[in-house]
Amino acid sequence: MTSSYCRSFFLLLSLFLSYNTFARGGNFNTDFDLLFGDDRVDIKEEGKIMSLALDKYSGSGVISKNEYLFGRFDMQIKLVPGNSAGTVTAYYLSSQGSHHDEIDIEFLGNLSGDPYLLSTNVYANGNGGREMQYYLWFDPTEDYHTYSIDWNSERIIILVDNKPIRVMRNRKDIGVSFPTTQPMRIYTTLWNGDSWATRWGQVKLDLSNAPFIAGFKNFNANSCIASPRTDCKGFNGGQNKGLDGESKQILKNVLSKWVVYNYCRDFRRYAHGLPYECRKENVKPIV
Ligand SMILES: *[C@@H]1O[C@H](CO)[C@@H](O)[C@H](O)[C@H]1NC(C)=O
Repeated sequence: MTSSYCRSFFLLLSLFLSYNTFARGGNFNTDFDLLFGDDRVDIKEEGKIMSLALDKYSGSGVISKNEYLFGRFDMQIKLVPGNSAGTVTAYYLSSQGSHHDEIDIEFLGNLSGDPYLLSTNVYANGNGGREMQYYLWFDPTEDYHTYSIDWNSERIIILVDNKPIRVMRNRKDIGVSFPTTQPMRIYTTLWNGDSWATRWGQVKLDLSNAPFIAGFKNFNANSCIASPRTDCKGFNGGQNKGLDGESKQILKNVLSKWVVYNYCRDFRRYAHGLPYECRKENVKPIV
């Protein structure tokens, strides 16, 4: 009893030391800095809840103090209700510079009663253009739902209420770049994207509904904080080695029912050839 307790203590301790710190149970006051929008960022309940506002003059957003290299990042979000056309609520990871990496979850608002679009994308080494967009199977303005990015060196999984909606595998084997070396910060923002977001920019913000407000809570990062002293290589915060049978089935179901846009099927945009990872000879089974 005592010795097994001891053993697990030292196991935990060594895990902790080998990864320096892995953050958990996040707090908006201590984990984030203001990015823009001043008091449009409203943090309450000792950092547990945050709301972001967008008005005539500005949107708002926060950026994580730490840089992370791999991890699982969960955020509960309640989107702008009513007429949210032109608003973009974004939850994403990004590094800096012209060859930056980025993993995106963005919610494109819509007229009352019309569905939000959840848009996902990945940039590696400055190259994006890998959008997949979805409608949701619930009204995301009625309640909080959990949106997650689970990123390790092998794959990126994007989840909604713990259901995988997208898996991107590292395909360095066929020369496709993948985010594995650049630490990223977490961004949470609400801004005016009405030049493109809703029906390709046709529907603009209706400022008579301003301020637009989105809610965020229960941020959680099980992640490796990058620093000169940490070795994050191999860190796997989401403990995933791919999807199990049940999750694969859920993913297949989501892909068949809720996808609105898939870059791998956009033969017009990629008239001169689909990206490598989309080509028939390169497509791997979902895992
Ligand atoms: C908004 O609603 C229209 C009509 O249902 C739909 O075509 C569109 O995909 C929705 N989302 C956005 C962001 O335009």
